[in-house]
Amino acid sequence: MRTGEIRPGVVPVGAIDWDRRIFDELIPLPEGTTYNAYLVRGSEKTVLIDTVDPTKEGVLHENLDDLGVDRLDYLVSSHAEQDHSGAIPGILNRYPQARVVATPRGKELLNLLLHIPGDRIITVQDRETLSLGDRTLEFIHAPWVHWPETMLTYLREERILFTCDLFGSHYASDEPAIEDLGRVYWAAKRYYAEIMMPFRGFIQGHLEKIGPLPLDIIAPSHGPVYRKPGHILSAYRDWVSDSVKNEVVIPYVSMHHSTAAMVRHLEKALTNRGIPVIPFNLTVTDIGELAMALVDAATVVIGTPTILTGPHPAAIYAAYLVKLLKPKTRAMGIIGSYGWGGKTVKDITGVLQGLPVDLLDPVLVKGLPGPEDLKALDALADRIAERHRSYGIL
Ligand code: FEO
Repeated sequence: MRTGEIRPGVVPVGAIDWDRRIFDELIPLPEGTTYNAYLVRGSEKTVLIDTVDPTKEGVLHENLDDLGVDRLDYLVSSHAEQDHSGAIPGILNRYPQARVVATPRGKELLNLLLHIPGDRIITVQDRETLSLGDRTLEFIHAPWVHWPETMLTYLREERILFTCDLFGSHYASDEPAIEDLGRVYWAAKRYYAEIMMPFRGFIQGHLEKIGPLPLDIIAPSHGPVYRKPGHILSAYRDWVSDSVKNEVVIPYVSMHHSTAAMVRHLEKALTNRGIPVIPFNLTVTDIGELAMALVDAATVVIGTPTILTGPHPAAIYAAYLVKLLKPKTRAMGIIGSYGWGGKTVKDITGVLQGLPVDLLDPVLVKGLPGPEDLKALDALADRIAERHRSYGIL
């Protein structure tokens, strides 16, 4: 359990989930996670910022017991997803006078997902403030980090920005706050890739919006609090920027080694041209690692055999993941081996439809790749190198 104040009167009261290994039944959590909630005491009002996943509700109540919190005036709901809102009904039962504070969209979702009655919810507009006596909360609407209703809360006098999912990391630790981003950089990048990347354009706007705020602390609702907010802000500026890196990601699957041989040849051809390659054998890949590689790479090439009449299901999964996560990747290709026919390219491009990427000419070979097929892969490597030069990254 976490204890101690991050500032006088600002106390983490959330829960650590050391053992959780999957989120949304999709995202691997190799380092567990935390559901951070914060108690903020003003001279007149006491506020709880977010709650915890329902599985850890008991820990939240225990923390409030330990602090002797016998009155709660407001409960700020930054985000209606249940890992932060799921314990709201229990808190409202415990503190009958408490009112939930949410955006208008948040109110709708809390009612829809948790059946919280409308008369227990106060809605706030963008930049509206709430006085706690000697302290002031300012609410900043920030849609799409991670759902449409999300908002940030700024505690002016302490220069703390509570950001819920934004800037979070799935990283279980007893230590509530860190100074050095290096400790959680990869967990934060993984989190960005899996949760935030589809909303890159919105985040660019939010970073501009919060830019002028004096900040001493960023307090997300997953992972540690940042005592040097400049580090995570700068990492996010890099990740959401439009610039891509000179890298090719190759998610692939191979049944009888022909597609794997093509991947190995393309990898060599690209590295010989000065382009680093990150291959992912989809049968053993942690999709979080793949998502992380997609954050920066200029090009993605999917490798798949043709099975029956189309691509291997693992390749379709990878293509669909790219489509969902919307990385800033500029070009995509397809390579693979087939035996007698099929519509592998059509099926994968069908999945990718709508993604703003240039599709490179595919290289599909019959059976085990021969010398002419390897030349076709060299030509593909040339085309990728040409593009990377045109992007100014090679
Ligand atoms: Fe941590 Fe979108 O919930």
